[in-house]
Amino acid sequence: MAASRLHYMLLAAASILLLIGIAHQHDQVRETLNNAWHKGAGGGSTSTTDQGDSPEPEGHGVAAPPPSKAPSNAAPGTPFVASDAPSFHEIALKHGTDKVTTHQYWFMYDKYFSAIRDKKLKMLEIGLGCNMAYGPGKSYYTWLEYFPYVDLYYMEYDAACVDKWAAEASGATIYAGDQADKVFLQKFIDETGGDFDIIIDDGGHTMNQQQVSLEMLWKIVKPGGMYFVEDLQTSFMGVYGGDGTGGKDHSKHTMSKFIYELLNDKLEGDGTRHAISAEMRGIDCMREVCMFHKKEKGTI
Ligand SMILES: C[S@@+](CC[C@H](N)C(=O)[O-])C[C@H]1O[C@@H](n2cnc3c(N)ncnc32)[C@H](O)[C@@H]1O
Repeated sequence: MAASRLHYMLLAAASILLLIGIAHQHDQVRETLNNAWHKGAGGGSTSTTDQGDSPEPEGHGVAAPPPSKAPSNAAPGTPFVASDAPSFHEIALKHGTDKVTTHQYWFMYDKYFSAIRDKKLKMLEIGLGCNMAYGPGKSYYTWLEYFPYVDLYYMEYDAACVDKWAAEASGATIYAGDQADKVFLQKFIDETGGDFDIIIDDGGHTMNQQQVSLEMLWKIVKPGGMYFVEDLQTSFMGVYGGDGTGGKDHSKHTMSKFIYELLNDKLEGDGTRHAISAEMRGIDCMREVCMFHKKEKGTI
């Protein structure tokens, strides 16, 4: 009888200990879940104290960076874009500009534009695409989608095409004129007020057009801004005024030779021979395209 009572007492004590253990474990699980929730919400702390305006201790309140992603259908080596937004490559491919089909300009544009695409930018592109088999506007729609806050300008030689397009292209200010005509360029400069963050020359691609435009429009690139010249392969094509002999015809002052002069001027004495190289941070070139980067104000 006494043994059986002792047996019951031991059983009861074991049950109580078991219940205490379960309750303790439950608290731990709740605390763990609580911590995970707060960390997941970006708090990183279980404290409910209001921190007010005091500075966050290091590591607290820092949201995880957005996942980096490369353009889904980009070639190997394409710069990574630290954003979930579609890349230049994806947007350009969707709208059908040859910048990402015939040419590989996304290497340049994703590289330089992904960090500034959400800023207010003033941009000029020479060449609407009126002479293209696919028709005008492919890059126009690309830029408007890629740069949501862009103040976009176009310069286009084909006035009839511009007239037809003016009604449709309300997202840009379009000037009809010749990119090699200095009077027209000066009018453009005066009327727009300059101060462009980005200028892209995708116009007629002749030696004279590329050089006159750069000489004139460089003045209206903002400090820190960028000037791109596309289709530089025309420097080696006689039909564009280029040197079809592969650089042996010294009578031809091609755009490629002009770029070489600017680069040498930069390397020799930081631009003592030419106004463009004097203001230039540097030149970045890849297949068929170069970018001229203007120095920021007050920098050497
Ligand atoms: C290669 S297309 C532009 C393509 C367009 N940017 C795109 O990505 O689809 C060249 C454009 O430059 C224009 N153009 C040709 N010569 C020009 C000139 N001297 N001044 C201004 N535009 C010119 C053509 O009419 C044509 O619309």
